Amino acid sequence: MVGRPGASGARCSGTRNTRRKAAPKIYNHPPVTVTVRSFAKINLGLRIGAPREDGFHELLTVYQTIGLHDVIRVGVGLGKGIEVRCEDPRVPRDGSNTCYRIVERAMAALRTKRRVIIEIDKCLPVQGGLGGASSNAVAALLGLERVLGKSLPAEERLRIAAEVGSDLPLFLVGGTVLGVGRGELVYGLADLPGMACVVVTPEVGVSTAEAFAEWDRQLTVSMPSDRMSGLGRGLSVWLSASYSGAPRGERGRAENPLLELVRAGIKNDFEQVVLPVYPELSEGKTALERAGAKYASLSGSGSSLYGLFASKEEASRAVSALRKQGLAAQVTATLTRREYWKRIIG
Ligand code: C5P
Repeated sequence: MVGRPGASGARCSGTRNTRRKAAPKIYNHPPVTVTVRSFAKINLGLRIGAPREDGFHELLTVYQTIGLHDVIRVGVGLGKGIEVRCEDPRVPRDGSNTCYRIVERAMAALRTKRRVIIEIDKCLPVQGGLGGASSNAVAALLGLERVLGKSLPAEERLRIAAEVGSDLPLFLVGGTVLGVGRGELVYGLADLPGMACVVVTPEVGVSTAEAFAEWDRQLTVSMPSDRMSGLGRGLSVWLSASYSGAPRGERGRAENPLLELVRAGIKNDFEQVVLPVYPELSEGKTALERAGAKYASLSGSGSSLYGLFASKEEASRAVSALRKQGLAAQVTATLTRREYWKRIIG
């Protein structure tokens, strides 16, 4: 949606209500703004491979976008420079902010000089494993393109996104996405029907870099060489069963394809190194299972946990039960690629 600041009805999906200031008038020209929903992701499975020479790890993961989101407003006016505004003190507002970094690169690639103001209404957790900072950056890029009425070629967009972080390109695809390489090479899988989902966001934040380092300390030596192909095989079996129409699921009954996917053995490797360090995360996962989740897991390197539920009603009941136990739980749903792109602007 393109409009004057404050013209959009988009709000954060989280429980925290962040008030925002209107973007200022610059040189008496009110900036035009675009509002973009910056959706979160969960990892339906994640396998860590060998460390690479560039310091990253080979990765095989299935990302899934979900309905929880931040709201990003991008405004442009006369002048130059990039300003990031966010009331959440944990979000950097300098050149290290992912939105700043992507907009700086995009402005150079578009050969455009304007003043850009990015406002972030933060609801997603910081260092939460839901891809918040990555999604914010992609939302800022999409908003910038829209507000300028210019767009980058898809290849350029993906290149810039991957430069800013491994988890950005998935948000240029949305829905269910296979991620390989260091997670930045993305392939859209078939759109799976939406599923009710409960996200638990513990107070702690987990650094992805530290989680990888801990993985190296604990497991490099004893890592079996076919770990990556194990997940790859699980995915292949799932894909071939989906497309061949073969009877699936328990007792031959076809169940939700998303559930079949997570049961194809695609666990999250980070659980092995993160859960022992943060017992509250282990407890959160158990609480989700006890509350009726069909499948529960850590997302990315955490700290967020998610559970997939058979229905919205069951998910809502689980949220009430989890909140009674003092856990910060929210109900949402997985977002298909179609819904993702339908809801992203405005
Ligand atoms: O790419 P991103 O900024 O998300 O990565 C954060 C850090 O996580 C990297 O600096 C690296 O230490 C680690 N990482 C990794 N292997 C990956 C992705 C990230 O080791 N595939």
